[in-house]
Amino acid sequence: MEINIRKEVQEDFKKVSELIRTAFESEEHSDHEEHFLVERLRNSDAFIPELSMVAEADHQIVGYILLTKIIIEDENQKNYTSLALAPVAVSPEFQGKGIGGKLIKEAHQKAKELGFGSVVLLGHENYYPKFGYKLTKEFGIRLPFEVPEANCMVIELTENALQNVNGVVRYPKEFGIE
Ligand SMILES: CC(C)(COP(=O)(O)OP(=O)(O)OC[C@H]1O[C@@H](n2cnc3c(N)ncnc32)[C@H](O)[C@@H]1OP(=O)(O)O)[C@@H](O)C(=O)NCCC(=O)NCCS
Repeated sequence: MEINIRKEVQEDFKKVSELIRTAFESEEHSDHEEHFLVERLRNSDAFIPELSMVAEADHQIVGYILLTKIIIEDENQKNYTSLALAPVAVSPEFQGKGIGGKLIKEAHQKAKELGFGSVVLLGHENYYPKFGYKLTKEFGIRLPFEVPEANCMVIELTENALQNVNGVVRYPKEFGIE
């Protein structure tokens, strides 16, 4: 099966929303509103069109990933720009075929090309370490809500990108996190 990863375009929006909704339908740790989050983020300042990507198989959209801009704020209110991975989703009938992994790797590559040094996420502790994610606590980085440490992860896209970075992640308002 040939998988093609490309930038999302406006004509994809409807299909992508439906894909995200069905991918998260049976996810126990989901609010089942991820497709609405993506719709809000597309209209936000945090949105980077090149980092909104779809996976196609036989010209059908079967996967989606979005990286949006976030800030890591240290105790002196100094800000570092980073990215949040939210969400990554693959159509249920296409899961377990490496498409999620491919989306993550291609999104990392594109983010690196655009000059970003790191990506933060909240996710399954067994899935993301194989792509190089480590616990945010190893870097002194915290997410701004109560979640198990094992699910708070970050990757350095370039060597030592987070060497002098620590603090609290500030999400764009579209995430609805205070
Ligand atoms: C998570 C998701 C994007 C992975 O995509 P995928 O194409 O199925 O993943 P891949 O084929 O690249 O990787 C499959 C591997 O991930 C593991 N995996 C998949 N989902 C997992 C999960 N929820 N928890 C732990 N491991 C998981 C599989 O066991 C498999 O492991 P292996 O490589 O050791 O055999 C997809 O399962 C999905 O859309 N899930 C519902 C939405 C979701 O939970 N998204 C992530 C939160 S933002």
